[in-house]
Amino acid sequence: MRRVTRAAPAKVNLGLQITGRRPDGYHELVSVMQTLELADEVSVESAPTVSGRPSLPGLAAEDDLALRAAHLLRGALGVTFGAHVSVDKRIPAAAGLGGGSSDAAAVLMALNRLWGTNVDRERLLQVAAELGSDVPFLVRGGTALATGRGEHLRDLPPAPMRHVVLVRPDIALATADVYAELRPSEWSDGSQTRALADAIADGCLPADLLSNDLTAAAIRLAPVVGEILDELRAAGAQPALMAGSGATCFGLFGDISTAEQAVARGQAAGHWTHLTRFRAAAEA
Ligand code: C5P
Repeated sequence: MRRVTRAAPAKVNLGLQITGRRPDGYHELVSVMQTLELADEVSVESAPTVSGRPSLPGLAAEDDLALRAAHLLRGALGVTFGAHVSVDKRIPAAAGLGGGSSDAAAVLMALNRLWGTNVDRERLLQVAAELGSDVPFLVRGGTALATGRGEHLRDLPPAPMRHVVLVRPDIALATADVYAELRPSEWSDGSQTRALADAIADGCLPADLLSNDLTAAAIRLAPVVGEILDELRAAGAQPALMAGSGATCFGLFGDISTAEQAVARGQAAGHWTHLTRFRAAAEA
């Protein structure tokens, strides 16, 4: 095989509760994660060494998670194969939508096929965890409960389908900055998100169980996040939440025409706005 192409989907956290801080500086979380139809497209092609264009202008190769994934997998497997990696970006960067993490996860999966290495999921997840907290979930995608720093996963059945309106202000929030702004008084016990996972396992998605403990911290750094959440609620989102560590926000809608009206409101306010929906897990 000379070339393998994969979709690298965006994600949102339907629940994100932070339960404490760990000695290694990371936070313990309980999160229900969900992939979206919105996706980058990742291609890997046979080549003598690992190479590629950084996926964003101005990004140094060593900071590009997709290229780092290729180098890391090569080292972890002790193989001498190479690959040329290219990413067609559609997911906004540094937006809380997991774009860079998903590119890295897609590279791991695509190289495993291109190289014919047939590494099992457990081993791929170990490599994925070294690349970032969200990368293990994005190896499979779909709907899952994540715990630890995000690397312990319980697969869930596909969540009931919703239309998703994404609204992103023109401001990039670094994940580390939002976690640094989080106050211990904003931690919680994770029980609401565990109840959400149980509800999804029973085929329900109760809007009042969705929450994101990083919201207040992000609003202190970027007050526009609070304004966008209010707009989405006024447009009928059930519920409106921040995506990951922000600054993108999203609203869930059962009804497409209400979702389209919310898109029009987001665009009128001058924000990047995108209508998408949940995406179920990819087959291996
Ligand atoms: O794992 P990742 O590289 O995506 O994390 C980026 C930053 O977000 C970390 O350096 C850390 O500051 C913060 N983080 C955290 N706890 C997590 C995940 C991320 O504190 N569970």
